[in-house]
Amino acid sequence: MEKAKLHLESQIIELPIVTGTMGEKGIDITNLRNESGFITLDNGYQNTGSCKSSITFVDGEKGILKYRGVDISELAEKAMFTEVAYLLINGTFPNAEEKKIFSTQLTENSMLHEDMIKFFHSVPPTAHPMAILSTMVNAMSIFYPQYFVEQQNDDVYKLMAARLISKIRTIAAFSYKKSIGDPFVYPRHDLRYCGNFLNMMFHSPVKPYEISPEAERLMNMLLILHADHEQNCSTSTVRLVGSSKVNLYSSVCAGICALWGPLHGGANQEVIEMLEHIKKTNMSIKSVIENAKDKNSTFKLSGFGHRVYKNFDPRMKILKKEAQAFLAKRKISDPLMNIALELEEAALKDDFFIERGLYPNVDFYSGILYREMGFPTDMFTVLFAMGRMPGWIAQWKEMHDSVPFKIGRPRQIYIGPKEAHYPESQ
Ligand code: ACO
Repeated sequence: MEKAKLHLESQIIELPIVTGTMGEKGIDITNLRNESGFITLDNGYQNTGSCKSSITFVDGEKGILKYRGVDISELAEKAMFTEVAYLLINGTFPNAEEKKIFSTQLTENSMLHEDMIKFFHSVPPTAHPMAILSTMVNAMSIFYPQYFVEQQNDDVYKLMAARLISKIRTIAAFSYKKSIGDPFVYPRHDLRYCGNFLNMMFHSPVKPYEISPEAERLMNMLLILHADHEQNCSTSTVRLVGSSKVNLYSSVCAGICALWGPLHGGANQEVIEMLEHIKKTNMSIKSVIENAKDKNSTFKLSGFGHRVYKNFDPRMKILKKEAQAFLAKRKISDPLMNIALELEEAALKDDFFIERGLYPNVDFYSGILYREMGFPTDMFTVLFAMGRMPGWIAQWKEMHDSVPFKIGRPRQIYIGPKEAHYPESQ
């Protein structure tokens, strides 16, 4: 086995080198502390591999993303979101029989417990749908309790996975209906995954909604593009929280909370708010770019930059093309799209962005499409969470099946006082 040699004071420590399927290399430091007393320090886990995984591959330098070996562009073009969910969770595409069983499970689990619906009535209409979503997903551990040991059973795990993938769609649509004061639209058994969601979102007794094949296709594609992205902030959160052996619902609830932040999935909402602000205040593109570069300003270009991608995010490329095609087909001139295109062009020519490898990420153009499809801005991150659900579930399961299994527990370098005392009374 290949080994790395680490010279530490007077010792030489040999550390195994681990190589992934795609040639990625890592140094296994599992025994470093036992052998040397040293730990590694890696702020923000910039160089730390937390696991071995066979779910998703990302090459940030080349701009490649694959789920279980299949390129994202192939999946976005050809697959159904439910097939991709199955692929992520089970490792293979479903055969005809497996597809039927999974589809039945999704249909049978689309309703919410009627008592759970009462929760919505005590929520103020101003509540952010991400807060409602995380609360409701955690509440699933109240209404559908399953002890951790039970979840080790494959059938129970699969049922919980189907419940989450199916019910998140109902919860998402209900939280929107609640925010606009409309009656809830219940899931329908005759509709497919995306059509059912769109119907629950947009149908109303006074204005019946017709599900267009184009809206269904776009929704399907958007969910696929968000379905997994290896060890990002929310997925690592799901793994870390899940490693305490808490149930699957609470683990993914923690992931939803992590996703909400503007540095992660919340950026899709921030992008549209930023573009709207630029439009409203008539800011020049030059001044926006200068502001984003200014070290004294807290402003960053939302939807730009990525920890892993130092090249074009392949999801962004697909979304940009789809957004442009959508607008062109309808002969719409969207001022926000025009600002986004100008910003991208200016940033990609600017040395600051070039030197740092800052490219538009998945969140830069997704909001433009969501908006054109009729979704309000504060639902964007909820749509991201719906897409990401299969990825979180698959990663949770892979972590629990890994050998040896370990609770996630990083160390630290303490820099506080050596000794202090309780103050004497004065
Ligand atoms: N605008 C302006 N400058 C930026 C941006 C940006 N969007 N992103 C990074 N930079 C600069 C930083 O200021 C830093 O500059 P410095 O080296 O002079 O200090 C350098 O580029 C490196 O950036 P870091 O923040 O150190 O990179 P990190 O990998 O820690 O962060 C992150 C990545 C959080 C995505 C960052 O690029 C960012 O804040 N982007 C905007 C928010 C965003 O779009 N988030 C969504 C990411 S995709 C997703 O999670 C689904």
